[in-house]
Parts: sequence; C-alpha cells; structure tokens
Amino acid sequence: MVNVKRVKIALTKGRIEKEAVDMFQRAGIDCSEIMNKGRKLIFHNLKDNIDFVLVKAPDVLTYVEHGVVDIGIVGKDTLLEQNKNFYEVLDLGFGQCKFSLAGPKNSDFYSGYNRKKIATKYPNVARDYFRKLGQDVEIIKIEGSVELAPILGLADAIVDIVETGNTLKENGLVVYKDICKISARMVVNMASMKMKKNEIQKIINRVQIQIDKKERALS
Ligand code: PRP
Repeated sequence: MVNVKRVKIALTKGRIEKEAVDMFQRAGIDCSEIMNKGRKLIFHNLKDNIDFVLVKAPDVLTYVEHGVVDIGIVGKDTLLEQNKNFYEVLDLGFGQCKFSLAGPKNSDFYSGYNRKKIATKYPNVARDYFRKLGQDVEIIKIEGSVELAPILGLADAIVDIVETGNTLKENGLVVYKDICKISARMVVNMASMKMKKNEIQKIINRVQIQIDKKERALS
C-alpha cells in the first residue's frame, strides 16, 4: 500500500485569503470551510489529506522555514522583506500590487543634500532599494498606516505597498518612483520538497493548471 503523506499549507490571513481559497477550490482542493471560519485557524481536508492553517503574512515563512508547514501562500512583499530559506515555486497571479516610493504631492524628494528619512513597514526592501541607488537614507520602521509618517513630519517619504492608490490619494501623497511589482506566491519548505515530493508536486500541478487556464482566458 502506498503511504500518502499529509501536507500542511499556511495561507496568509486577510488581503489574499479569499483569492487563495478560490484558487484551491478551482483546483478541486476543498478549503471552503475557511470562508465561514469564525475564529478557527486550522482546517482539515480529509479527502486530499491536506491541513490548512491561517497565519499572518510575516509568520508564513517562519512556519515554512521550520518545516511545521510544507507549503506557504504569501505575497512577494513578504518574501523580499524576509531573509529566509524556501523554494518559490509559483507566481499565483493574484494579489497584484507594487512597492513604491511615495511622499507629499508638493515636495521635491530629490532636491537638497540632507539625509532623507524613509518610513516603512519593509525596512529591508527600502534599505536595499536605496543601497542600489547609492543614496544614504535613514530608515524608520513603522507597523501600519505608513502614510501618516510624512504627513506628521516623521519622514520625508515612505516605501510602501500601493494597490489601488486610494490610500495615497486620500492622504495627499503621490508616487515618486515604482520599485517593483508584487503578487502572491507559493513557497515550499526545502526538506518537504524531497520528503513529500509526490504529494507536493500534485498540488503544484493542480494549481498550475488553474493559473494557465486564467492566463489563457485573459489573453
Ligand atoms: C496597505 C499599504 C497601504 C494600502 C495600499 O496597508 O500599507 O496603506 O494598503 O492600498 P491602496 O493602494 O489600495 O490604497 P494595509 O491595508 O495592509 O494596512 P496597514 O496600513 O495597517 O498596513
């Protein structure tokens, strides 16, 4: 008898949660229970032998790296910010947004010689961006509502996620420069990729078919 191993998948709570559930549903992997979950954080799909857990974005890679989950569904923003070990196996195509440098509408960020202050939830991404430009800046870590920082005078500009652009607009800020595109990714623990090769490859294939289908429908 073939021993089928149980696969654990961590889904990022919030923004990309619904699209991740839709994607698995379309791939024939039931996790519909997640949408009516209440405060529950763990779900068992007995048919496919998969457990789903719901975690915050920065924790997805922690669980994946430690091997307590095999697969993670998480934004590229988190992958870029965290220096962790994993295989990035699929660009899932949803959760599209971008990293941008933004600030007050009527200020010229590029003028003057003073060391600029940059507020961000993503200090590594911001540091890396300015290092590549050879520009010395001070990075100030903020946990949320980053747009407030330049308005209150804490920083000259922010490095943040822009999706619709509404938060910037409604707070009188504009994009100075786009840094890179972001979307949801599937990542896999390095040991799981070997130990549960067949089970994980089957999931990747089923999701890949859905990605291809969606791309064909859009082209
Ligand atoms: C993110 C990001 C921006 C906003 C951008 O914040 O930090 O504030 O979304 O989205 P938009 O371009 O569609 O307006 P999030 O909603 O995750 O909350 P936070 O401010 O608490 O970080």
